[in-house]
Amino acid sequence: MDSYDLLVVGSANADLIVEVERRPLAGETVLGSDLVVLPGGKGANQAVAAARLGARTALLARVGDDANGRMLLDAQRDAGADTTAVLIGGAPTGVALITVDPSGDNSIVVSPGANGRLTPEDVRGAAHLLRAARVVSAQLEIPLESVLEVVRNLLPHNRFVLNASPPRALPPELLAACDPLIVNEHEARVLLGPTAGPDPGAWAAALLALGPRSVVITLGADGALVADPAGATPIPARSVEVVDTTGAGDAFTAALAWRLAQGEPLPTAAAYASRVGAAAVTKPGAQASYPTADQLDAL
Ligand code: RIB
Repeated sequence: MDSYDLLVVGSANADLIVEVERRPLAGETVLGSDLVVLPGGKGANQAVAAARLGARTALLARVGDDANGRMLLDAQRDAGADTTAVLIGGAPTGVALITVDPSGDNSIVVSPGANGRLTPEDVRGAAHLLRAARVVSAQLEIPLESVLEVVRNLLPHNRFVLNASPPRALPPELLAACDPLIVNEHEARVLLGPTAGPDPGAWAAALLALGPRSVVITLGADGALVADPAGATPIPARSVEVVDTTGAGDAFTAALAWRLAQGEPLPTAAAYASRVGAAAVTKPGAQASYPTADQLDAL
């Protein structure tokens, strides 16, 4: 019997958020809102989103021995995620500098800090969590060799989900393990290069040709596209008032991973995840915007 629906291996950041009327150009200064500091990081966000929905979730991450690290650990525990594998020390907790404009779009610069010290050895030290988890998910804010170590230690009962964010070239060994590879439009274009063209259907086919077992492309207000060698399925989006898109992709990935752990087919899981992602954009912040299952049902 699996102890965890989901093991998230990834980053944890303190999000330093300022609302701006518009982003500064090079050499320019703009004034913004008061600073808000919230728990974030793509890995920590996924773990909180999944746990809040009811998934049995564990997080493998590294934070600094500092106030931001304690804030992140408290947020995980409040959501109900298992933090026994969160490592402490080695560098200050990662920080994300985030601006949010009036349309709800964000720009993010991450200083990885302790995330950059989550090593392949740390991954091997969490072998018991891989044994106990049904789905394992990762992103790319930790060293690539550590994500590769996750893949090398997967067991036959593990399903691996990768959100290729922030995007970078990926080795075939990593791509071959993805079921699915999850990207947004920007990430798809980075992975596919300048010849990508305008058609998400063509992106899905081209991404599948890189080796993943399945692909999910999130398309914001246009929903998502799910594809595997049997074909592609469009997933419609729910129309909502966008307040802040920060962390919506992490909520989508977490919900998808959880529903896959429940045995749902990929299109069904993606439809549920699309609802969760839509809920997440209606409130400010990343983790602060994630619904419980009851709150989602009430929407
Ligand atoms: O995906 C949103 C997240 O990206 C933020 O919480 C920030 O920490 C960066 O990792």
